[in-house]
Amino acid sequence: MDVHERGMLDQDTWENFFDVKKIFAMLKLNNRVHDVVELGCGYGTFTIPAAEIISGKIVAVDNDPEMIRLTSERIQQHRLENVEVIQRDFIATGSSVKNRSMEYVMLFNILNADNQQILFKEAKRVLKKWGQVAVLQWNNEADMPDGFDIAESPRPEQCREWARAAGLGFVGQFDIKPYHCGMVFVKGNTLKSSWTMGK
Ligand SMILES: C[S@@+](CC[C@H](N)C(=O)[O-])C[C@H]1O[C@@H](n2cnc3c(N)ncnc32)[C@H](O)[C@@H]1O
Repeated sequence: MDVHERGMLDQDTWENFFDVKKIFAMLKLNNRVHDVVELGCGYGTFTIPAAEIISGKIVAVDNDPEMIRLTSERIQQHRLENVEVIQRDFIATGSSVKNRSMEYVMLFNILNADNQQILFKEAKRVLKKWGQVAVLQWNNEADMPDGFDIAESPRPEQCREWARAAGLGFVGQFDIKPYHCGMVFVKGNTLKSSWTMGK
């Protein structure tokens, strides 16, 4: 099965690949987190469950009108009042989220070779001090089920270098078996972040 031009499979197939609870637990997206932005919300696969656990608001940005429509529909179905959906090309024009206003940025299945510097810089711009950037992507080493052809993801060491260049500290890397890899970065000194202080 090929990925669509969006870099995604059809919604059911896509969502079957993700154990959202496990991913959030590993990347510490939980009720201690207040304001969140997801750059590239897609079907809302992570937007909706994130809105259900965080203690504040989530801003979901995507430039594809169909993704915006689907995510908005799910928000209504779940009667969520803490999600703002923005249709916007955050590579061309930025996310429109205020400087230093967010605690957590989700870069889930969105990094590629053309956009990474802009995305990490945008993430840093919108984060408050000690805010976190979580990256989720396909693990290129994983054995995909027969017939699946997922576009190659940037290597984790490459992502760490991009984040470092944007001025973000590396916190940790997680093998989210069977198919994914997660990374967390912080705006500020890694040694003083909540991860290392046990919050
Ligand atoms: C592979 S999907 C991932 C969606 C979601 N983060 C997930 O993991 O389920 C990438 C999404 O990013 C959106 N996207 C890609 N480039 C974008 C851009 N420059 N501005 C806004 N959205 C973008 C696409 O429309 C698509 O919905």
